[in-house]
Amino acid sequence: MIITSYNKMGCDALNIGAYDLSLGVDYLRKKEKSAKFPFISANIMDSHGKNIFTPYLMRTVNGVKIGIFGLCDSRLKLKKIPGGNKLKVVDPMSKAEEVADLLRKKGADYVVLLTTLDIRNCRRIAQREMPIDLIVGSSKRNRISLPILVHETYIVHVERGGKSVGRLDVSFLGPAGLEALPAAVRFKGKTVGDRFLLNHFFPLRLDIPDHPEIGPLVKKVEARLTRLQQMKGNTVMAATKAPKPVLKSGNHYVFAEACQECHPQQYKLWRKSPHAKAYKSLVEQEKYYDEECIGCHTLAYEKPGGFSNVREVGDFANVQCESCHGPGYLHIKSQGKEKLNKDLAGGKLCLECHIEDKSPEFDLETYFKQMCSKPLKK
Ligand code: HEC
Ligand code: HEC
Ligand code: HEC
Ligand code: HEC
Repeated sequence: MIITSYNKMGCDALNIGAYDLSLGVDYLRKKEKSAKFPFISANIMDSHGKNIFTPYLMRTVNGVKIGIFGLCDSRLKLKKIPGGNKLKVVDPMSKAEEVADLLRKKGADYVVLLTTLDIRNCRRIAQREMPIDLIVGSSKRNRISLPILVHETYIVHVERGGKSVGRLDVSFLGPAGLEALPAAVRFKGKTVGDRFLLNHFFPLRLDIPDHPEIGPLVKKVEARLTRLQQMKGNTVMAATKAPKPVLKSGNHYVFAEACQECHPQQYKLWRKSPHAKAYKSLVEQEKYYDEECIGCHTLAYEKPGGFSNVREVGDFANVQCESCHGPGYLHIKSQGKEKLNKDLAGGKLCLECHIEDKSPEFDLETYFKQMCSKPLKK
């Protein structure tokens, strides 16, 4: 699915990283046959020190010769890769210098490095003033997404989880300089030597329609994943009986409706909040069997007294009172004398779900105070 989509997008090169290798080199080489673009890596070698993938390539675009090469992080865990014992990852720093020089010698006007190196190492390459114009990083460890300029090297970084498309326009300035560009763009970008760079991020919001050919392809793969997860769910169900609802302490989950009677104000607030609809969000995305999603959109997934089979969500759907306050049976039985958790570890609990990736604008201080105590609008 990924290769077919990249073919349609007109991809020029794919730099190999750890994920691509997870099923082994042989598998990847077989897959490469269906790609209209080369898989590249200048530092993944066989045991004889020979390149396994195309190390670099040259493309001419509008008369400009562009050299592209790829490097992967040398911390790649070879032991985890099928056939990994036959691989060697050469130090990316020395390779960067060697290949960049080579590309210049071959007449490249613009040199692009695609890499899974983290941002520190991308900077390190740029600081050594190698003849590289652009580094496109894709490390999971990435913490920045705005481009940075180090000496004459521009470093851009893809956002984690494919949440936006990055686009960099590179204009080669002629004798007229910046004047040749429309006034509207002139002030937005950055000039580096005789080039003008304009970087954009396009967030892939849910309301952006799918591509008419690629959208259905992705849906098909997702449907297959859902089926696989269902099958896995079946085996889990056969292997383990329904989770024990009663905890050691004699406590158990009683669900939001059980709290309504004594805390009608909090209940009303919660009912209207996104927390009460969190499971619906997964249903709308057809991700309700996805183990990667369910934990934060339900109550007590894989917790004592909770549920652990994605197919048995039942009353545990949505983020509920007890997601924050803990199981409430004893609290109710004692008419509120048995205390529930109100402090929530100073908000630490919120951050278990509101992680940066999923909730980038989360403002703990403001939101925490609003939980359960915001005056209801009439
Ligand atoms: C039978 C009535 C009753 C029910 C049902 C009930 N509570 Fe309470 N709750 C109380 C009382 C009484 C207090 C103490 C109020 C006070 O001291 O101001 C309380 C206090 C609380 C507090 C404040 C912290 C504490 O323990 O003092 C929280 C949080 C809370 N309840 C959550 C819940 C949740 C969640 C549910 C549903 C699982 C629930 N309650 C169901 C009666 C109830
Ligand atoms: C069990 C996971 C979980 C916990 C714990 C949790 N949340 Fe959420 N929260 C979610 C999910 C999931 C959504 C999005 C629901 C939807 O729209 O599908 C959400 C949405 C929100 C929203 C609305 C969206 C936004 O960011 O503006 C606020 C505000 C919020 N949570 C505040 C909090 C606060 C404050 C805490 C801690 C007291 C907290 N949450 C604890 C999972 C959680
Ligand atoms: C680590 C916890 C976590 C995981 C895992 C998680 N989510 Fe969420 N999700 C959240 C939180 C928190 C929000 C609220 C974000 C906000 O608005 O700040 C949210 C919001 C959403 C929303 C937006 C609701 C809306 O209409 O605004 C959707 C849709 C969603 N998640 C789907 C998913 C899917 C699909 C997955 C699995 C691929 C997933 N989530 C995995 C925590 C999580
Ligand atoms: C996303 C987490 C979250 C959810 C869900 C949640 N609460 Fe709370 N609740 C809080 C926080 C945080 C506070 C403390 C707010 C503060 O101290 O300012 C609180 C406070 C309370 C209090 C004490 C109010 C007071 O004035 O002292 C009660 C009672 C309560 N919640 C009941 C409920 C009930 C009932 C539900 C479900 C209908 C619920 N909560 C759902 C986070 C949550």
